[in-house]
Amino acid sequence: MTPDMPARIFVTGTDTGIGKTLVSSLLVTGMEAEYWKPIQCGVEEITDREWVIRKTAIPEWRAYPEAYRLKHPLSPHAAARLEEMTIDLDSISIPPVSSSRPLIVEGAGGIMVPLNSHQYMVDLMKRLALPVLLVTSSRIGTINHTLLSLEILRLHGLEILGVVINGPRDCVNRDAIRDYGKVRILAEVEPMERIEPASLKQAFRQYFLKGN
Ligand SMILES: Nc1ncnc2c1ncn2[C@@H]1O[C@H](COP(=O)(O)OP(=O)(O)OP(=O)(O)O)[C@@H](O)[C@H]1O
Ligand SMILES: [Mg+2]
Repeated sequence: MTPDMPARIFVTGTDTGIGKTLVSSLLVTGMEAEYWKPIQCGVEEITDREWVIRKTAIPEWRAYPEAYRLKHPLSPHAAARLEEMTIDLDSISIPPVSSSRPLIVEGAGGIMVPLNSHQYMVDLMKRLALPVLLVTSSRIGTINHTLLSLEILRLHGLEILGVVINGPRDCVNRDAIRDYGKVRILAEVEPMERIEPASLKQAFRQYFLKGN
């Protein structure tokens, strides 16, 4: 097992497109983990599951099928409504893991993304009850987004594993997130030129295993 990393992690973010799938791919590669994205909105372009399989070169069985695959690339509540269906949290459970490998679970969008008329992504996190890793940006604006996200996670009693900051290094923003957010910075992931198994493995070692 990777030092300091629990066997199951829920990867969320301060926004959509913030780097959750990229960070999940780093963890899948580095921890030799399995991957699961319970709710996928938008299936006409490449899905996150397909992206992870392609970029990490894991066999398909190490990436579980989604619980919900919604056609439109919208917020889950809206994507489901367009298909005249409702996301039912009670129907979403951690897949029966086929091996002793760790499991990386990726959310959709951020924490307060609505899933149906009265539940949000944070309710899915509570249901799955996994330690939460928050992916944030390094750029200006991130302090506000990150502190708001941490506040909501704490309000709901979720275990916060730490923050991964994605983007060009900014030590002022990093220190503010750490100090005001009272949170561990697990890694600062810099822009990668190539995303393929070897570079993911190297980046995991560089960013997550430093000091070990
Ligand atoms: N450190 C990085 N280096 C290079 N490319 C990156 C990095 N982080 C993110 N990207 C790229 O930015 C885009 C958005 O990242 P990603 O798909 O991981 O975001 P996301 O939070 O998973 O989005 P979604 O909410 O759609 O699931 C992708 O094309 C991804 O490959
Ligand atoms: Mg993603």
